[in-house]
Amino acid sequence: YGKIGVIGAMKEEIEQFLEHMEQVEETQKAQVTFLDGLLHGKQIVLCKSGVGKVNAAVTTQVLIDTYGVEAIIFTGVAGAVDPVLDVGDIVVSSECMQHDMDVTALGFPRGTIPFADTSIFPSDGQLTRLAAQVSGELFPGRVKVGRVLSGDQFIANRDTVASLHNEMQGACTEMEGAAVAQVCSMNGIPHVIIRSMSDKADGSADVNFAEFTMQASENSYRIVDHMLKQL
Ligand code: ADE
Repeated sequence: YGKIGVIGAMKEEIEQFLEHMEQVEETQKAQVTFLDGLLHGKQIVLCKSGVGKVNAAVTTQVLIDTYGVEAIIFTGVAGAVDPVLDVGDIVVSSECMQHDMDVTALGFPRGTIPFADTSIFPSDGQLTRLAAQVSGELFPGRVKVGRVLSGDQFIANRDTVASLHNEMQGACTEMEGAAVAQVCSMNGIPHVIIRSMSDKADGSADVNFAEFTMQASENSYRIVDHMLKQL
């Protein structure tokens, strides 16, 4: 790839990248700051999208149109939904779906975007394999490749977690991945989402999120850092 876009939603999710980048040039577009520079000699454009699907979608489109990135890696934290996952474990996306897309009243299955060709957005095969391999080396036995569910909701409820896992086959839940995946798919740009679990999206999610987001962000950073050395 030429330039690679690296997106995080929050400050914690991108700050380690910034510490290690060289020759950084800062520009703004659509109220988002883009940091163009080198990480291990590799050209990247780092940005903080802000939280939620609209922020993630706009940021992704700008990365593609204005900054000319040829691949996008999303790095950050998520709530675990698959009961095999614990705080600190890693999910690499095989695909993404919007769990809050709900037109069931008109007979569409939950998560289905009406009249669209697809509502499931697969990650790039090569990026997914590399992310899974690197994650497995850094965090042996703690990596799952699976479906990332996104919605404009911070999930902190056990019943919701059960339905996200049982009805929607989610591995984890967060608030941006499916927007990035859909925009990448619409533009023919490869992508992968890498999420470290900060919480289990249950009644303790708010406390765990506050406590573990820094460590989980660091885990995701280490994976992307190793990936970039091989791209
Ligand atoms: N990101 C981290 N934890 C989350 C949760 N429980 N719900 C949504 N997004 C998250």
